[in-house]
Amino acid sequence: MTATILDGKALATEIRAELAVEAADFIQDSGVVPCLVAVLVGDDPASDVYVRNKQKACDRVGIDSRLQRLPEDASMEELLTVVNRLNKDDAVHGILVQLPLPEGLDETRILDAVSPMKDVDAFHPENVGLIVQNRPRFLPCTPNGIQQLLLRRGIEIAGANVVVLGRSDIVGKPMATMLMQRGRGGDATVTVCHSRTKNLAEVCRGADILIVAIGRPKFVTADMVNPGATVIDVGINRTDAGLVGDVDFEAVRQVAGQITPVPGGVGPLTIAMLLANTLHAARLQLGT
Ligand code: GUN
Repeated sequence: MTATILDGKALATEIRAELAVEAADFIQDSGVVPCLVAVLVGDDPASDVYVRNKQKACDRVGIDSRLQRLPEDASMEELLTVVNRLNKDDAVHGILVQLPLPEGLDETRILDAVSPMKDVDAFHPENVGLIVQNRPRFLPCTPNGIQQLLLRRGIEIAGANVVVLGRSDIVGKPMATMLMQRGRGGDATVTVCHSRTKNLAEVCRGADILIVAIGRPKFVTADMVNPGATVIDVGINRTDAGLVGDVDFEAVRQVAGQITPVPGGVGPLTIAMLLANTLHAARLQLGT
């Protein structure tokens, strides 16, 4: 069997089209254009590309975006001053501090400083708590994109055995939380695996849906995948051979039922969800 490709790029285009309509209606009704500010510290080339792609996507759906750059050697005080100014600026609805921050900056302190009402990454502890309690204000972009992909492509989540490989705050933890919640897009039986997991291949083979976010190129091999399973690859690894995911795509596609490619899988969906969160943030701040 050869897996069906889950085309994240195509779905992201569909979602952006929906958002463009919603954004236009919002702007007409409120007279306010939703605005996302990306804060980029230093000049990491990969972060530069990510931020540029996010801005391009904003442009496509009629959302304003601004880039706030700081030098590599910016201090905590400088960065906190910028965040506080953006928190108070009524014209700014979403704030995204691009990670990773240069060494020496306290990431947790910076992310905690972002107003929870403008926290379009859903990294603030208040927003994380609301997700855990199944009353989310914002959903984190990558897990939200994956959940939308599963829902919109008709992949049964309720009752499924989901294995999440990786326990990061950005992907693994919130993904596991969202899929185990009661209700639409949830009701799965979720197992979270990490570097200390015993019999990893065996646990992975028990998955109806395998979600991989560990940042290790081609880590998941065909023998770790249950025939017919859905495999979601969150990895973006820059290697000499170009961009590769955390899944050995060519081998695993022979076994899986559905699989996301890299690039063109989860990445574009993450950006689409950021736009959705920015529009939602504008609504929250205007009380509409
Ligand atoms: N760097 C890698 N992924 C992300 C993300 O989802 N949000 C932010 N702010 N930075 C990132």
